[in-house]
Amino acid sequence: MATHINNVLKQAILTFTSKSELFAPNLNALSNLLEKITAEDVNLQPQFATESLWSRPGKAPVTCIDIYEDENLTMGIFILKPGGNLPLHNHPEMYGLIKVISGKVKITSYSLNTPKTLEVDRRSFMDDHPTKLFSRKNIVTAELVSSEILDTSSKPCMLEPNEKNLHEIESVDGPAAFLDILAPPYGTMIPNNGPRLCSYFAVLNQVSKNVFKLHEIKSPSWYWNDMFPYTGPELKV
Ligand SMILES: [Fe+2]
Repeated sequence: MATHINNVLKQAILTFTSKSELFAPNLNALSNLLEKITAEDVNLQPQFATESLWSRPGKAPVTCIDIYEDENLTMGIFILKPGGNLPLHNHPEMYGLIKVISGKVKITSYSLNTPKTLEVDRRSFMDDHPTKLFSRKNIVTAELVSSEILDTSSKPCMLEPNEKNLHEIESVDGPAAFLDILAPPYGTMIPNNGPRLCSYFAVLNQVSKNVFKLHEIKSPSWYWNDMFPYTGPELKV
């Protein structure tokens, strides 16, 4: 009998290879299937929910479990230590679905190219001396669009190329784990634009209500991850 995680994977493959007219209903079906995924469905090891694992000297603040990868999508699990976080980062021209399977997380999401950010950019362009434009490299204008606490009872959180494309994810009240589906994967080519890379950002300043200037930073030194093998049911595609 097909397992639930295998059904999610098959629907993810169908979604991210579907024709444009079938994409929206397939994405909706994927989100509905993902909503019902539990830690048991992927055999998440109970040790990750204990505080003692995370207090071991030298333990990485984040553990990743790769479940599946092809040229269209990746599926994996991220586990955050108590009080841990994934620093603010982007997903260039990507879709993403996050489903909490253990603990609780806070997801703070920003969008680019919204009416508010475009208005801010238009005004600052008119105000700026041309030489200042040069220093704008690696700075983006982003609108804070949501800050939500999710637990295992929450629907999946979705990001799109033009919606909630940047986010920071923190564990709340202990360790937390979430299943993550990303499409297309990091490392694939963006047409006419080069490789799809993950960039990290920090808030530079606030420029108007919910609008911030973010600057690109190197991956923070406190953030690194280790890997753990997938021990859930075998997957067939
Ligand atoms: Fe992300």
